[in-house]
Amino acid sequence: MKESQQPHLRRLRQPLTMALGLTGLVMAAFLTVACAKDESAASSSAASEAQPAVKVALKEGPALEFRGTISGDVLDVAPMEGETFTPEAKHFLATGENPYRNNEEAIKKGYTLFSTACSGCHGHLAEGKLGPALADEYWTYPKNETDKGIFETIYGGAAGMMGPQQGRLQVDEIIHIIAWIRHQAEENLKNGGAATPHG
Ligand code: HEC
Repeated sequence: MKESQQPHLRRLRQPLTMALGLTGLVMAAFLTVACAKDESAASSSAASEAQPAVKVALKEGPALEFRGTISGDVLDVAPMEGETFTPEAKHFLATGENPYRNNEEAIKKGYTLFSTACSGCHGHLAEGKLGPALADEYWTYPKNETDKGIFETIYGGAAGMMGPQQGRLQVDEIIHIIAWIRHQAEENLKNGGAATPHG
């Protein structure tokens, strides 16, 4: 008598398993397409076609001069313990240009880092909390509009609770975070800036 129920159950379970399998497949296909888009964009620019570059050619050179946002003093930007400057960090320090901007993967990592190091004070989506919103168009320090400027603020700190991240976060991590902040600001702008208190 029990057996008569089991095939019935199995029949139910099979379509369910199939449906779940299908969802997985669809998602995998979606992700593959999303990633392939990234790669094809990168390789086409590498093939030196006259298309807007997605991936920047990384440069190395003497570091620019970075100055504390409050003090105006030159910041000593040197690798912290256990840090080796990545090619991306070197590129940023030499040019002020953030190679992680518009890089989906880097933006995701930037968000993870932001969540750990910054969101407690600035809010989960940088909408502002104890510290000001970072993903809107208003800046206490206008230089934060540029990646070099905001790096100086993050690395060297600002007033009060905004302590310097020098020695806490690596340069490569900070520029990941900046890439996410810029991305979030663009998203907010697209959505009419509704999520930000400064409006
Ligand atoms: C302990 C709380 C705290 C943490 C953690 C913190 N901040 Fe701040 N942050 C503040 C406060 C408070 C201010 C306002 C300081 C000022 O106006 O000088 C501020 C200011 C800033 C500003 C200047 C904003 C403007 O309008 O010009 C930036 C940029 C910033 N923080 C980025 C970050 C990032 C990125 C992190 C994580 C790496 C971080 N902060 C971590 C509290 C914090």
